[in-house]
Amino acid sequence: ASTTTGNGSAFIFVEVEAGVDQTHHVAEGYDAEVLLRWGDPLFADSPAFDPKSQSADAQRRQFGYNNDYVGFIPLDGSAEHGLLVVNHEYTNEHLMFPGIVSVAEGKLKVAPADQKRVDIEMAAHGGTIVEIRKVDGKWQVVREGKLNRRITSTTPMQLSGPVAGHDRLKTKDDPTGTQVIGTLNNCAGGVTPWGTYVMAEENFHGYFLGKLPEGHREAANYKRYGVPEATYEWGNFYDRFDLSKEPNEPNRFGWIVEVDVNDPNAAPKKRTALGRFKHEGAESIVAKDGRVVFYLGDDERFDYVYKFVTAGRFDPNNRTANLDLLDSGTLYVAKFDADGALNWLPLTFGEGPLTAANGFASQADVLIETRRAADLLGATKMDRPEDIQPNGVNGKVYVMLTNNTRRKDDQVDAANPRAKNAFGHIIELTEAEGDFAATKGTWEVLLKCGDPSVAAVGASFSTDTTRNGWFGMPDNCAVDSAGRLWVATDGNNPKETGRTDGLWAVDVEGGARATSKLFFRVPVGAEMCGPLFTPDDRTAFVAVQHPGDGGTDWAPFGRPSYYEDLSTRWPDFKDDMPVRPAVVVITKKDGGKIGA
Ligand code: FEO
Ligand code: CA
Ligand code: CA
Ligand code: CA
Repeated sequence: ASTTTGNGSAFIFVEVEAGVDQTHHVAEGYDAEVLLRWGDPLFADSPAFDPKSQSADAQRRQFGYNNDYVGFIPLDGSAEHGLLVVNHEYTNEHLMFPGIVSVAEGKLKVAPADQKRVDIEMAAHGGTIVEIRKVDGKWQVVREGKLNRRITSTTPMQLSGPVAGHDRLKTKDDPTGTQVIGTLNNCAGGVTPWGTYVMAEENFHGYFLGKLPEGHREAANYKRYGVPEATYEWGNFYDRFDLSKEPNEPNRFGWIVEVDVNDPNAAPKKRTALGRFKHEGAESIVAKDGRVVFYLGDDERFDYVYKFVTAGRFDPNNRTANLDLLDSGTLYVAKFDADGALNWLPLTFGEGPLTAANGFASQADVLIETRRAADLLGATKMDRPEDIQPNGVNGKVYVMLTNNTRRKDDQVDAANPRAKNAFGHIIELTEAEGDFAATKGTWEVLLKCGDPSVAAVGASFSTDTTRNGWFGMPDNCAVDSAGRLWVATDGNNPKETGRTDGLWAVDVEGGARATSKLFFRVPVGAEMCGPLFTPDDRTAFVAVQHPGDGGTDWAPFGRPSYYEDLSTRWPDFKDDMPVRPAVVVITKKDGGKIGA
């Protein structure tokens, strides 16, 4: 492997070999150590993890399941001491609980849940806020940290912004329409310029079961969001997840949740001004005039790219003054023209088609049915928008579009240029006059993903990209303080691509543009989440999500029903310990900056 590509790449490291096995791999000269695993104690009084004797009470004091977004909020301005904030997106029962799986006709069957199991699942969802510190070059969890907190699917929360208190959010338990229990399916997220943690509620449809009462007004609304799907059995034990008993509950999910990490007792707030959809993430940047811009993806085939621009301005000298910035502003949806023009269309009640004639009585209605409002505006239907990352160094914005195998030939457009798009692509946005709050801009495709050696795939990696360097299915991403782009993937199946997911370094500037190199790869069955760089670029955090999972092709505790040679018990590799999702911390052995 070469150290540099010789074409002006901004990255200097020896590429990892793509492949698949039981463990993780990082570039030579780096350490990649597990920092936090599912079940790890987060508080001084947390019980030790016992996979055979799990309880919801214990889980509420331990690191949750399926770590996804990772953020770092420095304490006292330090790059070596801060709060790690981590989303726990969802649960894989077949990998969590012993004795619930049987094999029939080559497929795994998971036994129906009892309430105890559901309560553990609900406690394993949500987020973690935990103090960490670098001591003698090694990161440690500070269990005594006064700001440590678990957020779960039963944490009391407030609804705020234009939708709070609306009739369509009122339930038996909450006649005010302002108090919600818990958050669900928190995929990616963000840290705001004022140091709060935002969690995106993504696939909320899977948590609801039952039938709406005949003729209920939400029928079309729910259909547009795929509610109900009944992936989880929570509604058998909690009425609020059963549409026949609590028909308005799904309107209380699909929001961006803001957590004030400085007060572990503060109720998180669902910020309804940012719209309701299958929110992937919420990365932000301060615009020239001090307004703050949040980039938002709706991860569904043929759904949209959004941004939210606050009405108020960020005050760097007064944290408290920023705490409700997310309650007022303008939500826009993106229209990508074939000539490379980008138009941000406002989702504002009373403008264009967003009026009573189309069933909207207020801004609250526009936000509850964000997708329908965006449909009416003629926004561009995208190939599953995932993480969207503004880059303060080069002024661009990077949009991960993970894939869309359902796009037909006659549905191809300039911004979604491939039919049956199996490998996804990345679009680069340039906002007008370098102003992130602009309502116009331009765009171009940075990269069409997939194996460039297969002509039919139509991938556009540079010719300096090696066989290890290409990837498919971009999902999470990060920009480091030097403005370099790092892309994490979800779905590189060993059967089809000969590689696991991982973290790739992608050049965006000059002659090296669209050159990609593999920096880290995950164990079999996992997806790569995070990634996140500390402000000094000397540490990268990555989240290894659902290791050992192969859907129903995999048995509990990593014992495979096939792929015998590829099973894993990562990261413990002990017979009495299941495979566990975990956050890994990457540092350079010489203490230097990552990839430099
Ligand atoms: Fe949870 Fe869109 O990935
Ligand atoms: Ca994701
Ligand atoms: Ca990101
Ligand atoms: Ca994904």
